[in-house]
Amino acid sequence: MAEKPWVRMVTAQTPTNIAVIKYWGKRDETLILPVNDSISVTLDPAHLCTTTTVAVSPSFDQDRMWLNGKEISLSGGRYQNCLREIRAQACDVEDEEKGIKIAKKDWEKLHVHVASYNNFPTAAGLASSAAGFACLVFALAKLMNAKEDNSELSAIARQGSGSACRSLFGGFVKWIMGKAEDGSDSLAVQLVDEKHWDELVIIIAVVSSRQKETSSTTGMRDSVETSLLLQHRAKEVVPKRVKQMEEAIKNRDFGSFAQLTCADSNQFHAVCLDTCPPIFYMNDTSHRIISCVEKWNRSEETPQVAYTFDAGPNAVLIAHNRKAATQLLQKLLFYFPPSSDADLNSYVIGDKSILKDAG
Ligand code: DP6
Repeated sequence: MAEKPWVRMVTAQTPTNIAVIKYWGKRDETLILPVNDSISVTLDPAHLCTTTTVAVSPSFDQDRMWLNGKEISLSGGRYQNCLREIRAQACDVEDEEKGIKIAKKDWEKLHVHVASYNNFPTAAGLASSAAGFACLVFALAKLMNAKEDNSELSAIARQGSGSACRSLFGGFVKWIMGKAEDGSDSLAVQLVDEKHWDELVIIIAVVSSRQKETSSTTGMRDSVETSLLLQHRAKEVVPKRVKQMEEAIKNRDFGSFAQLTCADSNQFHAVCLDTCPPIFYMNDTSHRIISCVEKWNRSEETPQVAYTFDAGPNAVLIAHNRKAATQLLQKLLFYFPPSSDADLNSYVIGDKSILKDAG
C-alpha cells in the first residue's frame, strides 16, 4: 500500500428496471432465490436511476454509506452480504498516476465509503432498491478491480434485492431462477439489448406518492406462506409465459407482448389478493387506468399499450411506438387532468436504455 493517505474513487450510474413477468416469492430468504424466472425492461437512466460513488482510503476506519445525503446504517444483512461477496472477488489494484497500490489481501482490512443519489424524488413511491443495489455492486466491483462479468455481478446484487440483479443490463433482461442450493446459478442474462426494440416508449403515471404499506419483502413472504394461487403461478403459469414472452420480445410482437405483460401484472395482483391477510397495492385510479387501456386496446386492431403495476398503485405504461405514446398521453390528460381531484399528479416518460458506466 502507498504510505501517504490516499483516496481511490469510482462513480457509476444504473437505471431501474420494470418487470413484465414478475418476481414474487422467494424459496430462500437469505440468498434471495426466487420461486420463478422473471423478465424486465431496463429504463432510461435520464429518468429513473441511481448514481453511486464509492471510495476507499486507509484513513477510513469503518464502512459508511449516505443515501441522498443522509447517512444510513450498513449493518443490515443485505448490505453485509453484498460487501462480503464483492470483497471476496477483489483483485490487485495499481494506479500509477496516483501512486496507489492495493494488494488483493489488503481489501480485507480496507473500509469503503458510499454516497448514493436517486435522480427521482424518493417520496414518489418509485424509489426502487433495484437500481440502488445494482449500482452499489457495479461500482464496488470497479473500485476493487473484480474480474466478474455482469451476470456474475448480478448474482451478488441479487443478495441486496432480488430485482436488482436485472438492472446490471440494459434492454430486456431475464433473471433465471436457477436450481443450485447456493444460488450460484440464479443470475440475470440479457435477452436483447436496448437497440433491439427501440420504438417502445415507457410512460410512468405517478398515481400516488405515498409510501407503500406492505413492502415487497414482507408481501411476498406472506404470499409464499398463504397463497395457493402463487404456487400454481410459479409452477404452471410462469414457465410457459416466460417462453412466450421471450418469443414476443425476439419477434417484436407487440400484440403478444402487451397481452402477456398485462396478464402477468393482473395475476401478480390476484396473488396479492389471494394472500392472507390480502395485500392491496393498486387503488381506484390504478383500476381506472387499466379499464381505459383495455377499452382502447380492444377498439384497435392490435393493442397499442401494455400496462404493468409493481408493489404500489403507480402505472407503468409501455406504448408500442411514439404515435401510441402521444395518444396515450392525450387520453391520460383527458381522463386524469392534473388539476382534477384524481390522485394522478405526474408522468415520467422515457425510452428503454442501457446501464452506463460513469466510472
Ligand atoms: C413487484 O426486489 O423489491 O417489483 O428481493 O425482497 O428486495 P426483495 O424484493 P424486490 O421485489 C420486487 C417485486 C416486484 C416485481 C419485480 O420487480 O419482478
